[in-house]
Amino acid sequence: MSQYLDWGVEVAREAGAILLRFYDSNMRFEYKSAGPSSDKDVDLVTEADRTSEKHIIERLRGRFPEHDIVAEESGRRETGSEYRWYIDPLDGTTNFAHRFPVFAVSLGLEKAGEMIAAIVYDPTRDEMFTAELGAGAYLNNRRIHVSKTPKLLESLTATGFPSTKRKQSSNIHFYHQITMLSHGVRRPGAAALDLCSVAAGRLEAFWELRLSPWDTAAGKLMVEEAGGRISDMHGAGYHFQSESIVASNGLMHAELLESFAKIFRGEYAFPLPK
Ligand code: IPD
Ligand code: CA
Ligand code: CA
Repeated sequence: MSQYLDWGVEVAREAGAILLRFYDSNMRFEYKSAGPSSDKDVDLVTEADRTSEKHIIERLRGRFPEHDIVAEESGRRETGSEYRWYIDPLDGTTNFAHRFPVFAVSLGLEKAGEMIAAIVYDPTRDEMFTAELGAGAYLNNRRIHVSKTPKLLESLTATGFPSTKRKQSSNIHFYHQITMLSHGVRRPGAAALDLCSVAAGRLEAFWELRLSPWDTAAGKLMVEEAGGRISDMHGAGYHFQSESIVASNGLMHAELLESFAKIFRGEYAFPLPK
């Protein structure tokens, strides 16, 4: 393990322990965007998000003070370093705030524009997902691979829905069509873990629109190192400004993209029932 992965595992465990302490206490949440114009947004934040992120950043400054940071709750710190950490201190805040035990800490390290290390820790299951560029993906130190299921019809997939500008999301159409074309679509509520589930072969694919870099940075490398494929929903290369992300086991990527293309064209094989 590189010094980065080694350090990231240690810090993700510490952050996970912080989350569990809050999880066991009385949870209070706030809406990130309050006010009349955003009354349909449900972007929650808790003391756990903030405390976890503060801890990760303090540890990062102590160990790699020259590295850049892109963190969900406190924003960017850019110094021109070729190293940049993407930090989601609590992925799955809505689950967490409702005591639905599906959430994680996600840390991804980029070097000169390329992801080189990924750590996603699920504290309720004590599952530590790790990956390094060129060295494979692991779950609790055991190598993981994407599934070998070749057909969408025999796949289990997952997606997610945004917490802001919800009325503008068209994903319900994709959700409905792919549900009818597969074994089902799950909506677990923590994108970093959804990507790890693809890497571990628990899901054949995952897609979502409008995710942020801290949601996908670590999970993207995890899927690629587990032998999977990443693109946007139109089949173009995924980057952090992309409108959407698709992760799959590779074998059914083309079929999934073809189904998406039909839905984008409004060709619905299964109209929504009235
Ligand atoms: C959210 C989760 C969720 C996804 C949302 C994300 P957060 O992240 O990953 O699964 O559907 O789009 O914003 O806010 O809990 O860190
Ligand atoms: Ca997130
Ligand atoms: Ca978060």
